[in-house]
Amino acid sequence: MNGSVQGKKVVVGLSGGIAAYKTLTLIRLLVKNGAEVKCVCTPSALEFVTPLALETLSGYPLYSDLFSSRNESKTAHVGYADWADLMVVAPASANTIAKFAHGIADNALTTLFNAFDKTVVLAPAMNTRMYKHPATQSNLDMLRQWGVKVVAPASGALACGAQGEGRMPEPETLLAYTEWVCRHLPESSPLGKPQESSYYTGRKVLLTAGPTVEPIDPVRYLSNHSSGLMGCCLADELSLRGAEVYYVTGPARVRPHFAPYRLIPVQTAGEMYEAAVSLWPDMDAAILSAAVADYAPAVVSGQKIKKDSDLLCLELKKTQDILARLGNEKRKGQLLVGFALETENELENAESKLKRKNADLIVLNSLRNPGAGFAVATNQVTFVDRKGRVESLALKTKEEVASDILDYLPSLAES
Ligand code: CTP
Repeated sequence: MNGSVQGKKVVVGLSGGIAAYKTLTLIRLLVKNGAEVKCVCTPSALEFVTPLALETLSGYPLYSDLFSSRNESKTAHVGYADWADLMVVAPASANTIAKFAHGIADNALTTLFNAFDKTVVLAPAMNTRMYKHPATQSNLDMLRQWGVKVVAPASGALACGAQGEGRMPEPETLLAYTEWVCRHLPESSPLGKPQESSYYTGRKVLLTAGPTVEPIDPVRYLSNHSSGLMGCCLADELSLRGAEVYYVTGPARVRPHFAPYRLIPVQTAGEMYEAAVSLWPDMDAAILSAAVADYAPAVVSGQKIKKDSDLLCLELKKTQDILARLGNEKRKGQLLVGFALETENELENAESKLKRKNADLIVLNSLRNPGAGFAVATNQVTFVDRKGRVESLALKTKEEVASDILDYLPSLAES
């Protein structure tokens, strides 16, 4: 869906980083899609892009000097905060992130951030080691807890010559994220305040996603068609609602827009089981959207299996059931959601799964419904819950289904 930035007033904040050149295209794209853009930058950002470029693309004077007589008013930072609907900080350097997290207001951008009480989208861009440094990570955690939407940096070649996580996503991707935020956030969702309206704010939610991959030998594996899209939509929706997302994912084709609170990549059902079981005691809820292999090779061959015989038998062993184990260890106050993909006797199977595995909600999708299931962007689901309710939803996008699941779940919380 396009056009969600149409008519929105966006402050684009730039800090010092080579990725600032990409922000010029982002500004162009925002304006082209109907947003009104004003730019604010740190002194270091101007080492990478010129005021003329920013002013020409946005059509507004640049705000970069707190004390300049060129500013529209003496309190431009407050004026910008009043004017804007949201702020996009791209690139966000380690230094600016640290200042944001600690309330330091020593330049136009950091001062504006302090005066800003609406939605902020932040795109970190830096060297991998700087990004992974505990100082940067704990600063980002703090910002996330306040409601700042932190965009996951991309991996690839960095300006310093290294490879790794820390690249600013491409302008088209940042535009898509900004549109996504505009579509999903209600008008009044100020920074630090979504907590009031959301059941999820500050809650720890374990989310499993994607397929698992079970090695047969060093070359081959068993897996399934799961794209991981349902899990991504849930992760993003949870992040937007203020949850701390513990995202345990198999090798999925897609990634969430917003960096989950913790990203735990796994390959096999066994690894997913270990990760989920160790996190569970500390969680408020778990949503198990992963398509976990039910069986894995009993023995993994150390060498590539040769095609010596006409018939090859693979012995498979049942994997451990994550949903059943979490259900078994569920304590009062925890909510547990499982998915069920059925091809026959859908409702009976889902009801039995709910009871056997001590879940609170089963999200049932039948492969018989067109538009539902794997590798498609839509899903048609039925909620089967602990209280005996059965609710069938219309065919919707996976984004919408994620939102419906999260709207529904608090009704199962014990009051
Ligand atoms: N699941 C799990 N651990 C496994 C297999 C599946 O936690 N080893 C979870 C999935 O993430 C999903 C739910 O169980 O939330 C249902 O998966 P599905 O494959 O439909 O059901 P099964 O567990 O195979 O059902 P059954 O026990 O009836 O065969």
